Amino acid sequence: MTDLKNTENLISRNVQSIEISGIRKFFNKVMHFPEAISLTLGQPDFSVPEKIKKAMIKAIEENKTAYTANAGIIELREEICNYLQGFNIKYNAEEVCITIGGSEAILSVFTSLLNPGDKVLIPTPAYPAYESCVRLMGGKTIDYKLEEDFSINFVELQKLIDKEKPKILVLSYPSNPTGAVLSKEDRDKLYYVLKKKSIVIVTDEIYSSLCFEKDYYSIAQIQELKDRIILVSGFSKMFSMTGLRVGFVCAPLKFMTQIIKVHQYNVSCASSIAQYGAYAGLKDCLQDVEKMKAEFIKRRDYVYERLTVMGMDIVMPKGAFYIFPSIAKYNLKSEEFSERLLKEAHLAVVPGSAFGNGGEGHIRISYSYSLDTLKEGMDKLENWLNKNFK
Ligand SMILES: Cc1ncc(COP(=O)(O)O)c(C=O)c1O
Repeated sequence: MTDLKNTENLISRNVQSIEISGIRKFFNKVMHFPEAISLTLGQPDFSVPEKIKKAMIKAIEENKTAYTANAGIIELREEICNYLQGFNIKYNAEEVCITIGGSEAILSVFTSLLNPGDKVLIPTPAYPAYESCVRLMGGKTIDYKLEEDFSINFVELQKLIDKEKPKILVLSYPSNPTGAVLSKEDRDKLYYVLKKKSIVIVTDEIYSSLCFEKDYYSIAQIQELKDRIILVSGFSKMFSMTGLRVGFVCAPLKFMTQIIKVHQYNVSCASSIAQYGAYAGLKDCLQDVEKMKAEFIKRRDYVYERLTVMGMDIVMPKGAFYIFPSIAKYNLKSEEFSERLLKEAHLAVVPGSAFGNGGEGHIRISYSYSLDTLKEGMDKLENWLNKNFK
């Protein structure tokens, strides 16, 4: 008989094994300091492009409020294929499923693929959802460490694949939290390593529109590996529409038919109105995306320059909107560093430990805030460092 008083038995062990994200935890702490500046969230401060707003209003007025196909409206799926083609990534509309943000895409993919005990290689540091979603499904995560510049250590990666025989390798470029992007050289090295191994590749490219390099590289460009690549992405960051919740998964049909089942029982479909918004975004708002990107580059350069002057050790981010300085020389754990910075200087950043073991010794600063806010934040950090560590 179920013992209703015994919470431990009432709740799934897999659910008990995970926690809410450290990013959110820190964001919630900031609430207690109303005067604090927060550089914690991955939420661009731009308004949603006008044409997206208009398309959604029109969709409401035209009563496009019914369920859509489980996989999403065909015009959006086709437009996603056109868009990806521009990055030299080839899918057709049957291989695309529109999800409720990148988040549902990630969970639907791991739910479809994992049996209890299956191993998944995850970079560390990384976006925390990968580890939690794998654990939710009873899978086992194995961290692969990154080099000092946050590129892949291929010797270690090969060894781990041979030793652990993981089912899935997760790639995440441009990276949250490091801002690293995949270079051509590393993409080709990955191909060389992976073509000899039987492993599925899940590549999260939600920041692909915010790559600051001239050319974009992705493992999904490698046609020879296509039958085992699953691409996860979305529009939250691209169109500054985090609350509208539209993402997508691209995968060969052998995976897609299974992913759609999970997606169907979980959510039926993504919001019809938001799908029409995303469609208008891809059709008519790519120039707005370029403008946002130019602004992010300005902000990145500003924050990089300020941190350098403060004497912080940093790697120049090449994409997304995060910078991940080392705090090793201050001899504080990232949690303590961030707590003190919040309490004493009223500046909130995310402790690197929120992104896994490999994140310890760092903090994540999001520069998806206005230059004025960033200036205020950098002034606070500089004063606090001068007061405590000079
Ligand atoms: C790397 C990465 N993947 C996925 C997501 C989830 O995005 P969404 O808000 O569309 O669910 C995020 C959000 O911060 C992210 O940083």
